[in-house]
Amino acid sequence: MENLQKNSLNDIYKKISSVIPEIEWKVHAPLIEKINKLKKEKNAVILAHNYQTPEIYHGVSDISADSLALAIEASKTQADIIVLCGVHFMAETAKLMNPKKKVLIPDMQAGCSLASSITGEDVRMLKEKYPGVPVVSYVNTSAEVKAETDVCCTSANAVKVVESLGVEKVIFLPDHYLANYVQKNTKVKIISWQGTCIVHEKFTGKEVEDIRKENPDIKIIAHPECPPDVISASDFAGSTSSMVKYVKEKQPKKVLLVTECTMSDNVQVENPNVQFIKPCNLCPYMKKITLKKIYDCLVNETNEIKISHNIAAMARKSVERMTQIGR
Ligand code: 13P
Ligand code: SF4
Repeated sequence: MENLQKNSLNDIYKKISSVIPEIEWKVHAPLIEKINKLKKEKNAVILAHNYQTPEIYHGVSDISADSLALAIEASKTQADIIVLCGVHFMAETAKLMNPKKKVLIPDMQAGCSLASSITGEDVRMLKEKYPGVPVVSYVNTSAEVKAETDVCCTSANAVKVVESLGVEKVIFLPDHYLANYVQKNTKVKIISWQGTCIVHEKFTGKEVEDIRKENPDIKIIAHPECPPDVISASDFAGSTSSMVKYVKEKQPKKVLLVTECTMSDNVQVENPNVQFIKPCNLCPYMKKITLKKIYDCLVNETNEIKISHNIAAMARKSVERMTQIGR
């Protein structure tokens, strides 16, 4: 048994040695071993977002994915405990999708600039200003905002969700740039909010164009949370999982993922023949999650997500409606 564990630890390191120096691995390995053992003992599942560090993504996570897939996986799991390695709204969404499970987040301070850009009160004000106009909220929002929402979406299905309503106009919140991206791809009139992602708003079209000039054979793929000039300068835009899929299927010689840069390390491990160009913007919230905090929250079952009954009942409807629409 111990040998088996050692072998699987060796296999993990073989996989990620190109992105984690040996000296760091020595710190990670004992925690990875303890977390994986504890996970089995407690019948827990670890769901990790694509922006988690390689030792989490490849070392302890059962499923690593974009926010839509994490919500769907949370609804299907048979585990007793879900440890959500990502940010707070993702853990809340998991709880909404599967309310009987214990959902833990390793750090309660793992927030999101988009989620904190708008409150339930703001949405009520918008509904008063635009009576009868349905509200589509990005999942990057609090449960309180979701409770005021008709249907949620992620970057993987935003256009599809907006068009599913069969209306001429929608309130789309809180990401101004995602709203802009949706507006370019639909005839439905979009009323947007002024939220932005502090990671993606930093990229500029000029930066992306300069990288293309230096690397004429590169494929550039951007997250739709980026400003419009970045998206126009890219070859493809899509959710984090569709970026992963693009690289896996097309195997470009060189690629730039215009998104949180840890993801490039994770995808590089799975695509050794692709060269990644990595300008680095990190999400400080995603980086709050560490192996030590995962271990502590699982061993003590702390940092449990709780949502008041009334809010949860209303918020659940908008998230379930989104998952029924799918990708
Ligand atoms: P995805 O749904 O594409 O994974 O994006 C979530 C997110 O927070 C991106 O910044
Ligand atoms: Fe929020 Fe941006 Fe971080 Fe995603 S990358 S969690 S949108 S702050």
